[in-house]
Amino acid sequence: MDAGSHDFTVRFAETEEERLAAYRVRYAVSTEEEGDERYADHAARILRDRLDDGPSRVIIAETSSGIVGTSRVSFRRDGPFIADELYRWDLLAAAANDDQPVELSGVALWDRGAVLANFRRLGIYKVTEALVTETARRNSIQILVGVVDPKKEVLMAFMKRCGWAVFASSEIAGKEWFQVFKRPD
Ligand SMILES: CC(C)(COP(=O)(O)OP(=O)(O)OC[C@H]1O[C@@H](n2cnc3c(N)ncnc32)[C@H](O)[C@@H]1OP(=O)(O)O)[C@@H](O)C(=O)NCCC(=O)NCCS
Repeated sequence: MDAGSHDFTVRFAETEEERLAAYRVRYAVSTEEEGDERYADHAARILRDRLDDGPSRVIIAETSSGIVGTSRVSFRRDGPFIADELYRWDLLAAAANDDQPVELSGVALWDRGAVLANFRRLGIYKVTEALVTETARRNSIQILVGVVDPKKEVLMAFMKRCGWAVFASSEIAGKEWFQVFKRPD
């Protein structure tokens, strides 16, 4: 796929076809490029997990070449996240500077971020992050969480510029991950 025009739009997927295109982008990036085998469906060349079959909202970035980027927003009040037991809600409360325990009904997860290699550095993820923050605000989400590979320093720096901060680290599939959060307001 060629980058062609640099115009893109970022929005929520509305059809099953758009969601499938997003799962293919995830497969190309996470499975093939990054070598992460989790949740890969090699026969269909898609990456899909149980949250996709629930109320999670899939975001797509569309260009004249088709759907080239994606990520996903899930509300904790709709059900447990993937690897839910790994999230350190106790540490999140401390990091968010609250005296109260975190109210899980006010938490949302931003995950499964992927942009095809030929379409990077166009600002797709930046626009996506703004849409996620705005969506959280409109849905009375108090805290957004995510998981970032600490070795991706450029990505970590970008997240920090957008107001995200690290509250814990955890080991998933033999690798260290930072748990990050942001208040959307
Ligand atoms: C991470 C990823 C989604 C970023 O997508 P993208 O659309 O290229 O990102 P953007 O163009 O919106 O750039 C976002 C920010 O990162 C910076 N950035 C991105 N890649 C960079 C690079 N290689 N070098 C320097 N800065 C970079 C941009 O400058 C921008 O910051 P700014 O707006 O403050 O200037 C994409 O690189 C990707 O799919 N990587 C592999 C999978 C992955 O890491 N997913 C994230 C899961 S947590």
